[in-house]
Amino acid sequence: MASPIVRLPSVDSTQIYAASLAAHDAPDGTAVVAETQTRGRGRRGRVWHDAPGSCLLLSVILRTSLPAARLPLLSLASAVAVAEALIAVAGVDARLKWPNDVQVHGRKIAGILLERRGDVIVLGIGVNVTQPEFAPELDAVTTSIAREEGHTDREALLSGVLDRVGQWRARLEREGFAPVRARWTTLATTPGRYVSAEGVTGVARGLDSDGALIIETAAGATRILAGDVVEVS
Ligand code: BTN
Repeated sequence: MASPIVRLPSVDSTQIYAASLAAHDAPDGTAVVAETQTRGRGRRGRVWHDAPGSCLLLSVILRTSLPAARLPLLSLASAVAVAEALIAVAGVDARLKWPNDVQVHGRKIAGILLERRGDVIVLGIGVNVTQPEFAPELDAVTTSIAREEGHTDREALLSGVLDRVGQWRARLEREGFAPVRARWTTLATTPGRYVSAEGVTGVARGLDSDGALIIETAAGATRILAGDVVEVS
């Protein structure tokens, strides 16, 4: 049976709405989609802005069998799912930047936010779809499907994302991290780049078995568990 999709014209954040549905026993896979958000949340306390109707704004309730220590891997699996959906449905050249930014031509097109509420995960996904341009401070680092001349059908993208999130999540639960890591690596631009993250600078080598980014420095390999990566030229 297909999971329910709750559609809202406007909401503070689909994350907050989905968390309250989860607290009222909404089933695994329930999705919340909004046309616009007044308090869209990003990673690390940032804000996700949207103009009404311009983005795919989605939160999915996941009741997973994964142990707590493996939950961060869901965000890498979800990034793979979103990138694959953008390639297959929107026809854009989506790539991944550790840990889970989705980029096209080096500009961010989609972001993923994984939040834990007790036993439940609320997976938030925001995709820029129709924006022709962005605020001056974001314009050089952000893009949209329209800007990349892809297909801007949000319904098709929603169903492509939901299908692939379901598939990659199931694979992670069934087969472990190895297939996710392999696919993430083929889609990622981070490995091989000279990067800086959390004060560590060196060559990004790839993902460790727990999803940490391995950076090779003059002093040896260092593992970064969370944070943002900046390319250093
Ligand atoms: C990031 O910082 O890159 C993650 C952004 C996640 C934004 C999405 S939009 C739908 C869902 N609801 C939110 O408030 N945030 C996520």
